[in-house]
Amino acid sequence: MTSQAQVPDEIVSLCERCVEAFSETSEVDAMIEFVRGELPKLQRKKRLFADLLLGAFERASFPDLRWATMFDNEMLLCLDPVHKFSLRAFLWEPGHYTPVHDHGSWGVIGPVTGRLEVVDYRRTDDGSDEGRAVLVEKSINTIEPGETAYTLPLNEGIHEIGNPTDETIFSLSLYGKPIPRGYIYGFNVPEERAYRIISPTTKKKLLIAQALPGLDAAASEKVLKKLAEHPVEIFRELSPAEFGKLS
Ligand SMILES: [Fe+2]
Repeated sequence: MTSQAQVPDEIVSLCERCVEAFSETSEVDAMIEFVRGELPKLQRKKRLFADLLLGAFERASFPDLRWATMFDNEMLLCLDPVHKFSLRAFLWEPGHYTPVHDHGSWGVIGPVTGRLEVVDYRRTDDGSDEGRAVLVEKSINTIEPGETAYTLPLNEGIHEIGNPTDETIFSLSLYGKPIPRGYIYGFNVPEERAYRIISPTTKKKLLIAQALPGLDAAASEKVLKKLAEHPVEIFRELSPAEFGKLS
C-alpha cells in the first residue's frame, strides 16, 4: 500500500478486502463482481472525500498530487504492492468527457457526487492496422452515487465517460492489473482512427531517452539498454531510429 499512516481507514480497509479477495480468485468476472459489491460503500462516504479533497488541496501527504497518473483529473488513492489493482479518484468539470478509449485492465467506476454518463463501444475491425479502428456505439448508461459501471480490458471495454451535469463531480475507479503496454488507446470514432495516449511520466522518460544522445553518448546507451529490457512494451519498442516518431 501507499503510506498507510495517512490513508483513511475506509480506503485501507477496502484495499485489504481486495487483496484478500483477489488472492482467492483471478477470474475477471469474479473480481469485478466483488468490487461492484464493495465500491458503493465508499461512494456513500461524502464526508470522507470532503476531508480527503481538502487535504489534497492543502498539500497533505495523502493523496499526494505528485503521484503519476494518466489523466490530469486523476488522483491515486491506493496501489496494491504487487500491482494487482489500484484505487483512483477523478474530478470531472461540467461537460468534461474522456476521449473514447480502452484500458489495459478491467475496472469498476462509480460517482460519489453528481452522475456519470458511460458510453460503451464495440470494435468491428480486426485491429490489424494499428492506426485504424472502426467503432460502433453499443450503449449509453447514466450512473449515480451508489451505482457502478464496469469495463473490460482492451477491445472488450472501449468506452467514453463524462459528466453530463453542470457541476464539478467526484468519482472513484478501481482498476485491475494492467497489461504492461505503457499507454492506452484513444479513438477518433468519426475518422476511424486509433492513437496512443501516454501518461506524462512515461512521455517524459521517452523524451529523456530522446534527448540524451545530444548530451552524452554513454548515458544515452545506458538508458537505451535499460529501456530495451523494460517489461513495459512502449519502452522495449524504442530504438534510436524510432525516437523521431515520438516527438
Ligand atoms: Fe476509462
